[in-house]
Amino acid sequence: MIATRHFALFAAIAALTYLAAACSSEEKPQQPAFDADNVQIVKAPINPNGDSELALLMRAMYEEADRMKKAIERGEQPEITLDYDKILTAEATEPEKAASATYKVHAQSYLQTLKALESAELAEAKVLFDEMVDSCMGCHSALCPGPKARIKKLY
Ligand code: HEC
Repeated sequence: MIATRHFALFAAIAALTYLAAACSSEEKPQQPAFDADNVQIVKAPINPNGDSELALLMRAMYEEADRMKKAIERGEQPEITLDYDKILTAEATEPEKAASATYKVHAQSYLQTLKALESAELAEAKVLFDEMVDSCMGCHSALCPGPKARIKKLY
């Protein structure tokens, strides 16, 4: 019974890891194994489902960007609800990536495009939205090419 449950948990984590758009399609990011009885030995604050804080934030960013795009298409002001500054502190699957100067530069430029979009007139919103997506793509080209095909759909 216990073995079955562990297998089910392992299979679920494996499936999620596989489904999640990893940074590189060839090389999967290393994730510490999740051990419910021994959580303190896991170094990075990885969620029980195996996703890093940054991966979860990114997924929410993608969904919010998709909602913004649809709002702009309907002629409505896009709504910004996420705490985007978390991009600077969220724990990544590969912490050395988020700690790099390259990451920080791209993160700042992304936050700037977002700020511009936030205070934009509706008439400029589409152009500024595309600039925001450019900045997603810029960081992903430099550090995390895996999700680029998906991000492109936001244009
Ligand atoms: C400053 C760099 C940077 C910027 C800007 C950035 N990303 Fe990411 N993104 C990353 C990194 C690094 C990861 C890997 C996260 C991890 O696994 O911990 C990631 C992961 C992702 C993922 C995969 C999440 C998953 O399911 O594992 C998606 C989708 C994504 N980003 C979309 C976006 C979108 C959309 C934007 C712009 C709105 C964006 N990113 C902006 C660096 C960035």
